[in-house]
Order: sequence, then C-alpha cells, then structure tokens
Amino acid sequence: MTEILRLPGLVDVHVHLREPGQTEKEDFSSGTRAALAGGFTTVCDMPNNAEPITTLERLEAKIALAQQKAVCDIGFHYGTVGDNLDTFAEAAKHSIGLKVYLNNTTGGYTLDPSRLKEIYAAWPRDQVVLLHTEEDTIDIAIASLEGLSRPVHVCHMPSRVVLEKIMAAKAKGLPVTCGVTPHHLFLTENDVERLGVYGMMKPPLKSQADQDFLWAHLDDIDIFESDHAPHTHADKQAGAFGVPNLETTLPLLLKARAEGKITLEQIIDKCFTNPSEIFGLPTDDSTYVDVKMEPYVLHNADLQTKCGWSPWDGEEMPGHVTRVVLHGQTVYENGTFPADLHPARVLTPFAS
Ligand code: NCD
Ligand code: ZN
Ligand code: ZN
Repeated sequence: MTEILRLPGLVDVHVHLREPGQTEKEDFSSGTRAALAGGFTTVCDMPNNAEPITTLERLEAKIALAQQKAVCDIGFHYGTVGDNLDTFAEAAKHSIGLKVYLNNTTGGYTLDPSRLKEIYAAWPRDQVVLLHTEEDTIDIAIASLEGLSRPVHVCHMPSRVVLEKIMAAKAKGLPVTCGVTPHHLFLTENDVERLGVYGMMKPPLKSQADQDFLWAHLDDIDIFESDHAPHTHADKQAGAFGVPNLETTLPLLLKARAEGKITLEQIIDKCFTNPSEIFGLPTDDSTYVDVKMEPYVLHNADLQTKCGWSPWDGEEMPGHVTRVVLHGQTVYENGTFPADLHPARVLTPFAS
C-alpha cells in the first residue's frame, strides 16, 4: 500500500524571492506557489534584492507587495551594510531577522566584519542575526560570538572545516545555530562538470568527504534551509550564483529517508520545530501537508518556480506533496491551486 505522510506545514527561513527588482527570476506569487508545492507554508525572504532592503521605505514597500501576492505565510529578513543602524529598532518590528553577508554573493552587499559587534548591539537582542560566512570568514564570525548573549544563525554549512568550528562554538556554549542546504547535502564538486553553471552557488559545492561529514554530524545542524536562489538561464550563463530549491528540498530529504540516512522525525525537527523555535515563528495545528510516497520523475517543466530549472531535473524522487492545508484551507491539491487562493499572513517573530 502507498504510504501517506502527514507533516506540519514546513518552514524555510532562507529564500530569495527576488521581488521587487528582479521579477524576471521569481516573484512573490511564483515563489510562494513553489513553496506550497514543495510543502513549505512559511518562508522568510532575504534582503539582497536589486535594491537591498536596508531602509524602512524599501521594507515597507516589499511587505506591501507580499501582502498582495504571496500565498503562503511570509516573513522578512532586514539587511545592512553598516550604514542603517538607526533604522534597526523600527525595522525589527516588521522583520524576522537581520541578514549580514561576510562574503561576496548575489548583490554584493558585504559588511566589514569589524562592524559585527556594533551591529549585534543595535539589533534587538531577542531577534536572530543571520550570517553568510564561508571558510575564509568563519573565524571572524566565531570570534564575534565571544561574550555574546543574543542569537546568531550561521547559514548554509558547506564543509567539514566550517561545521567543526560551529560545533566547537556550540560546545563552548556560544549562542549560535546553523543550517544546511539541500545542494550541500545532495551534490558535490564532482557534479559541477555535469551541471556546469547550474552547479554554481555560494558557498560552492565541496568534496564528498565534506558532504559525508555533514551527514555524519546532522545532529549538530539545527535546520534545513533551502537557500532557494532562482536565476534566469541567461543570468546563470552570465555567472549568477544560486539554485532554486523550494520544490526539491522535501523530495530529496524523503529520498535520504528511504535510504536510511535520516528519519522523518529529523526532517520535521529541522524543517519545522527548530526553525519555528529559533526564529520565533508562529505555528498552527490547522496547517499541514500530505505527502504520497509514490515515485515520480522531477521535470523542469513541472516546477512552479519562475526560473524553470533545477539541478535535479530528470531525477526520480520517492514521494510528492499531494495536499497543503494552510490555516484550515486547502491551498494546494494534486498540482493545482484554488482560484480564490487567500493572501499570505506577513509574520513577525514571537507574535502569536
Ligand atoms: C544567493 C542569491 O542568489 O541571492 N546565492 C547563492 O548562491 N546562495 C545569495 C546567498 O545566499 O549567498
Ligand atoms: Zn548566503
Ligand atoms: Zn541565500
């Protein structure tokens, strides 16, 4: 008999929905439909838009667009390159976290790491600061945690060396959490030859040994974050970093479960319980997702994401989302959305 799973509505605290400014890549409508199709009912959108979300005006304008177009619950991370600390207190009321880039990535909004302490002091201390770090910036990130009493989340663990340093920081009791993406768990540098530009993202794919280390230390990784980072084919050809993931994260994790690498409980912990707790997001018992464990082949043409491609095109997945119920209403069923889809709730942390 075909197994049916009922999961809580999943939470993805790391997506790039590109609106406003780059709606040729994705927008709130297509991006949140991709979320629902992938089993996510809550997403948190990153601030590295074409015009970065580093002013109250831009944050307000973005929220207004999402209120009109998003079809799942959505929260926003505010941005900084160090010149807007006077806006933090007000921005935080409408944001989930503050995102800081310590490396160059899409948008190029890199913060001078010597400013970190000042940034931490200015952002409300119960709300998370998220860091983009890589091998060359992890030491300065870890050093910034010393003596700190506020939550910091380090995004997308790519490699053994980075995760080991996070594990050491956690062992010292520093207030840090971390996440991992599907691409770092399911692709390695060996896939880059086959995928070409579609295997390019920040942080880059690493070795099989690095990936094995991530799998062996899943208990030290708090959350799965998709880092859904859609780009057009033309932008990828021109060197843009990032891959879409809202519709592949859950199927890939179910594949790992079928292979005995992860339990359903771990999937729920890292895609629902932990992200909700860490980021203070509301949960709702009348929000859930049904998954049918029936194999299918993932095709680019079937994706909701506007970019229309995935590194896993053509791959067999063991199960798919058949139904999503959001606040008691069916919002996705067997590949279709109801005509009267209700607009999203815009979330702020610790509100419910
Ligand atoms: C992200 C994007 O395109 O916005 N790209 C990526 O390769 N991950 C930015 C980021 O998360 O670093
Ligand atoms: Zn990043
Ligand atoms: Zn990202």
